[in-house]
Amino acid sequence: MDPLHNRPIVLGVSGSIACYKAVDLASRLVKAGALVDVVMTANATRFVTPLCFKSITHRPVVDDLWDTNAEMAIEHVGLAKRAAAILIAPATANLLAKLSLGFAEDALQTTVLDTRAPIVIAPAMEGDMYGATTTQEHIARLRARGVVFVEPESGRLASGLSGRGRLADAETILGTLRATLARGGDLAGRRIVISAGGTQEPIDPVRIITNRSSGKMGFALAEAARDRGARVTLIATPTTDALAPPIGTELVRIGTVIEMHEAVRAATAEADALIMAAAVSDYRVAHPAEQKIKKRGAAANGLTIELVANPDILTETVGDFVRVGFAAESEDLLANATQKLDKKRLDLIVANDITGAGSGFGSDTNRVILVGRGGVAEELPTLPKREVADAILDRVAAILATRQKGER
Ligand SMILES: Cc1cc2nc3c(=O)[nH]c(=O)nc-3n(C[C@H](O)[C@H](O)[C@H](O)COP(=O)(O)O)c2cc1C
Repeated sequence: MDPLHNRPIVLGVSGSIACYKAVDLASRLVKAGALVDVVMTANATRFVTPLCFKSITHRPVVDDLWDTNAEMAIEHVGLAKRAAAILIAPATANLLAKLSLGFAEDALQTTVLDTRAPIVIAPAMEGDMYGATTTQEHIARLRARGVVFVEPESGRLASGLSGRGRLADAETILGTLRATLARGGDLAGRRIVISAGGTQEPIDPVRIITNRSSGKMGFALAEAARDRGARVTLIATPTTDALAPPIGTELVRIGTVIEMHEAVRAATAEADALIMAAAVSDYRVAHPAEQKIKKRGAAANGLTIELVANPDILTETVGDFVRVGFAAESEDLLANATQKLDKKRLDLIVANDITGAGSGFGSDTNRVILVGRGGVAEELPTLPKREVADAILDRVAAILATRQKGER
């Protein structure tokens, strides 16, 4: 479930040239199911009208602390207390200074001072304003009080100059907001390691042995785990390069099975769960050629490549964490999956029939059977991969909760 769904979010907007981007943010928040209250500074209304936000959020916009008809006047502290989170984007240098010092001169400053909800701030300003010692001091003070910052990007600024100060992109801002809201989720404080994509084994400097895995299932798992409060390490192969890694997760890029094995070993040292969603090559080339293999000599009439077995990462990575495997099968799905569950001593196996429509590699949906210890199977209908991910994490959270009870 998206942590923004049905959550009251205050979107604070201050007087930056990047104000127009806040309109897009408001729209994305509404689409994600959030209940959005926009609070604008007086100077923000010089850039974008309150009507623009009101038309998107279908709620009154607060831009005047003294408007006797506005909610701020009637229910002075209502927004601050009701908010699940406050997002300020864009935040001006002026506003950062005021918030750092605890000013309560207008509706936005008052709301921030009066809230106990998490606060996420995305600054936007000229590079030299952002780099100014005073601005950085204010940011450091706010950070020390628990405010989460989404750093501005470097690039061309409205003035025509280049520097760090451009408002971060919408996905980064909303990803950070989601991760902040997820702190109270059922996987809060848990460390989850997820592998995604298809490994690549070199034959020579040009050719590889790989598979059809897109990594979409692993990335959906990483996003869902983050949205439930977990600290996620996502170990991804080059076949996932087209996917945007979920904001707030730690991304480790690898290519071969040996590299993945090493990355998994390092990441699971303190993990609560390992979910191996990657499609891992069972074999690698015994002696990859250092130079491109030419179509001449011995290779002209055919080529034999010697393969050797790769390590079985799940079996060989030992530790006290929940172990989840995937079984992509084209026949005897349940029998093969159960056998794999027992052999690899897994807590859960996700069996998917890669021959079905709307299931398996590259697809946005998946049809799986979840098989737990003792062979207890639950068949899910064809679902978006994000929903399959949440169903898998429901099981992981339940196993972790049972283990914790046992420890007490
Ligand atoms: C055209 C224009 C663009 C501006 N853009 C920014 C900006 O991106 N970031 C910033 O910190 N200040 C910017 N300012 C300056 C702020 O608007 C000014 O500091 C104002 O007092 C901020 O008020 P507020 O923080 O209450 O919204 C801009 C001013 C103008 C006239």
